[in-house]
Parts: sequence; structure tokens; C-alpha cells
Amino acid sequence: MELQLNTNNKKRLVVGMSGASAAILGIKLLEIMKEQPQWETHLIITKGAEMTITYETGYTLEQVTSLADKVYDIKNIGDSIASGSFRTEGMVIVPCSMKTVAGVACGYSDNLLLRAADVTLKERRKLIIVARESPLSTIHLRNMLTLSEAGACIIPPMITYYNKPLSLDDMNLHIIGKILDQFGIEVPGLKRWGEESSI
Ligand SMILES: Cc1cc2nc3c(=O)[nH]c(=O)nc-3n(C[C@H](O)[C@H](O)[C@H](O)COP(=O)(O)O)c2cc1C
Repeated sequence: MELQLNTNNKKRLVVGMSGASAAILGIKLLEIMKEQPQWETHLIITKGAEMTITYETGYTLEQVTSLADKVYDIKNIGDSIASGSFRTEGMVIVPCSMKTVAGVACGYSDNLLLRAADVTLKERRKLIIVARESPLSTIHLRNMLTLSEAGACIIPPMITYYNKPLSLDDMNLHIIGKILDQFGIEVPGLKRWGEESSI
């Protein structure tokens, strides 16, 4: 396995997109990260996410992958992000399917996204899981509890009302703001409770 050192002084964020609904959240997050000069994104997309990107958004796969600094083959479980020695600030899985939740919760790392998440947990780095399903079964809830107990942060893409969203874009932006807050990344236009006179 080739080891890469973080020589350009940029912080690395691993972004996983799996086959839950809300592919647009992963895409918008990548668009915002592209404007962050101190950061680079390392993207892995599952086959399920390729389907939701096509069904749910007007983006092509090529347009999505072009937003990332580096794109990985989901089947290549020996690539750099499969090793803890490859330095990253953490990982976000957005959106995260219940299948991928189950895989991470069980340490069943049979693709590169699952392996990267497993590594993130074992290295005690930040793992953000934007888990989406409704309703949630007891199995889903148990798996999410397991992940939370293991140190992951579960951020379901829940609608907020206090920011008075006027559009789907407003709602998406608020969710992405909550995700990137976990890494200290400020999302322009995010309406925070108590900080805006209009709220
Ligand atoms: C249009 C579409 C929407 C889906 N939405 C969800 C969802 O919201 N949550 C979920 O857990 N699975 C959802 N699925 C099912 C997953 O894509 C499926 O379980 C897949 O095997 C997940 O694999 P992955 O996690 O490797 O991407 C959806 C599938 C499709 C085609």
C-alpha cells in the first residue's frame, strides 16, 4: 500500500456518499468544500449513490466527482484512505444508507467506504453519519446507537424551522452547516439561532 503524506498543508476530509435518498446533500457539501482553500476532499461513491444521484438530481456522476480533489474506486480496498497512517481530519458519510450504517456498526468493511469509516473510528477521528431512512426500524436505531457509542456523530438530515427556510436550498444549506460545524468549517449564509435578528 502506497502511503501518502499530507505535504501540501491542506486538511483532508473524506466524504462518502451512499445510496440513501438526499444525494443532493453530498453534492452541495462538496460544492461548499471546493471554496475552502485550506481543505481537500477525498470522495468515495457507492453504486447505490450513483443511482440516487441519477434519480434524484440533475447532476451527472462526472459533475459530482469533479467537485472532489481526489476520487476513489469503491472496490479498491487497498487505496490510501484504507490506512490509518493516511492523515485525515475525519470523514462524513452524506447521505448514509441503513445498509452502510449496518456495515460500519458491525465493522464489516467489504468496500472502501466502509473500510475508511472503520479506520476513522479506530483512529478516534471524527466520523459524521448523515443517516437517512423513515420510518426507522429497531435494527436501524440499534445500529445508530452502536455507532454513537463508538464515537460517531449521527446527524440525520432533519428539517429545521427556526431558521425560517424559504426553499429546499435553504433547508439543505442548514443541514450542511450543521455537518461542517463539526469540523469548524463556516458555511456562508447559515442562520444561527440567537445570532440573526431575523430569527
Ligand atoms: C431512489 C432510492 C432511494 C433510496 N433511499 C434510501 C434511503 O433513504 N435510506 C436507505 O437506507 N436506503 C435507501 N435506498 C436503498 C439503498 O440504496 C440500498 O439499500 C443500497 O443497497 C445501499 O447500499 P450502499 O449503502 O452501499 O449505497 C434507496 C434506493 C434508491 C434506489
